[in-house]
Amino acid sequence: MPAITDPADEVRRWVIPGESRAYVLTFGCQQNEADSERLLGLALSMGYGRAETPEEAELILVNTCAIREHAELKALSIIGGFKHVKEKNPRVLIGVCGCMAAEPHRVDDIKRRYPYVGFTLEPAKIGSLPSVIAEAIKTKKRAFLLPDGPTAVPPIDEGLPVERHSPHKAWVSVMYGCNNFCTYCIVPYVRGRERSRESGEVLAEIKGLVSSGVKEITLLGQNVNSYRSDCDFAGLVSRIGEIEGDFRLRFMTSHPKDVSSDLIACFCATPHLTAQFHLPLQSGSDAILKRMNRRYDVARYLSIVERLRERDPAITLTSDVIVGFPGETDADFAATLDVLKSVRFDSVYSFIYSPRKGTPAAEYPDPVPPEVSRERMRRLLDLQCEISAEKNRPLVGQTLRVLCDGPSPDGTPGIMTGRTEGNKLVHFAAPEELAGRFVNIKIDRADAFALRGTLTE
Ligand code: SAH
Ligand code: SF4
Ligand code: F3S
Repeated sequence: MPAITDPADEVRRWVIPGESRAYVLTFGCQQNEADSERLLGLALSMGYGRAETPEEAELILVNTCAIREHAELKALSIIGGFKHVKEKNPRVLIGVCGCMAAEPHRVDDIKRRYPYVGFTLEPAKIGSLPSVIAEAIKTKKRAFLLPDGPTAVPPIDEGLPVERHSPHKAWVSVMYGCNNFCTYCIVPYVRGRERSRESGEVLAEIKGLVSSGVKEITLLGQNVNSYRSDCDFAGLVSRIGEIEGDFRLRFMTSHPKDVSSDLIACFCATPHLTAQFHLPLQSGSDAILKRMNRRYDVARYLSIVERLRERDPAITLTSDVIVGFPGETDADFAATLDVLKSVRFDSVYSFIYSPRKGTPAAEYPDPVPPEVSRERMRRLLDLQCEISAEKNRPLVGQTLRVLCDGPSPDGTPGIMTGRTEGNKLVHFAAPEELAGRFVNIKIDRADAFALRGTLTE
C-alpha cells in the first residue's frame, strides 16, 4: 500500500523555517474572528511564522464576509491590492476564505478577475486548509472548489489548532450554520445547515481555557440559542455555570423565536453568566417582520424583553435593526422607532438593507430609495444616541467591575480600556500590567458610546 502522506507535512517541507510567514486578514462577524484564529493556528502548525503585514507574508488568507455589499467590495479592493505582493514574490500563496468563498458567483468572479489568487476555501472546510495548500504547492494549479451549497450539513472539525488573539478573552463556537432563511440574509446559503457541537466537547474546551487564565468566554453561533445536541442551549449554559473559576460567560447571537423560558431563567441564577443579551429585532413593523420571515411579531419580542427585565431589571439589552427593507413605508419605519423608544435598548447596531444575490428579498418589489434609507438611518441613529446616553448617565458615580482589555486602541498613553459586565466600553488610567485582570472602576463620565472612570482599590 502506498504511504499516505499528511498534507501538513508536505507544506512543512515547502515552508522555509524562520522565513515563511502567514498573514490572516479578517472581515465580518465574531464567527469569522473565531475562524481566523483557526486559520492562523493551522498555518502555524504547518511551520509558517506569523507576519505582521501582508507584504512580509508568504501565505495570505483573506477571511471575507458577504453580509452586505459594502463588506464584499471592501474585501475585493484589498485583495486587488495584493497583486503587487505576488508579483514581488512568486512563492506567495493568496487564499480567499470566509463567506464570499461560499458564493458560487463570487468564486467565479475571483477566479476570472484575480489571477494571483491561488484558492478559495469556504468556512465549513477550514480543516482542509493543509490539503488545499499542499495541493497548490505540488501542482502549481489554482483551486476553486465549488461550494457545497445551502443543503450541506458539513461535519464539525473538532480539535483544529487555534491561535487565539487574546490571552484572556476567548470565542467558543458551539453551533454552526443557520436554518432560518430570513429573506434578506445570505448566511444560511454560505454557512450551511445548523449543526451543534457535543456539550462534552464545549465543556472540555471551556475548562481548558479557564484553567489557562481566560477570564471571558463568548459562546458563538449564528443562531446560538437554537443549539441542540445532547442538551439544549439553556442546558449548555447551566452546565458551563458549574465550571469553577473566575470568568465571565456571554453568548451571541440569539434569535427571538428560540428564547426559551429556561434560558431567561438562567439570568441571575447561573454563575458566570453576565447580565447582557443581544437580541436582534430587525424591524418594529409586523408586516415587515413577516416579509423578513423572522417568525415572531412585535408583541412576542416585547414579551421576551419584559420577562428578561422581570428576571433582571438591570440587564443590558442590545439589538440589530435593518433600515429600508423593500416595501418599508414611513409607518413601518415609525413603528421601528416606537419599539426603540419603548424598549430603550442600551445600544443598537443599525444597517441599511443591502440586496444579496440569491436571497428572496433581493427579488422583492418596492425598493426603498437610498436617500430615504439614509434619512431614516440618520433619524434612528439620533434617537438611539439620545437613549444610549440617557441609559448610561445613571452609571456615573457607580463603581463597576471591569475586565481590563489592555491599552486603548487610540494609543492615548496610560489609558486602558475594558468592559463592564453589561459589555459597556470603559476608558480609565491604569498600568498596563492590569490587562486581563478584573478591576473596580468608579465611573466619572458617561456618553452614548463609552464610559470614563477611575481605578479604585
Ligand atoms: N445571526 C445573527 C446575525 C446575522 S448578521 C442574527 O440572526 O441576528 C448581523 C446583522 O446583519 C443582522 O442581525 C442584520 O441586522 C444585518 N443584516 C443581515 N443581512 C443584511 C442585509 N442583507 N442587509 C443589511 N443588513 C443585514
Ligand atoms: Fe441571517 Fe436570519 Fe440566520 Fe440571523 S437568523 S443568520 S439574520 S438568516
Ligand atoms: Fe459575514 Fe459570514 Fe459572519 S457573511 S457576518 S462573516 S457569517
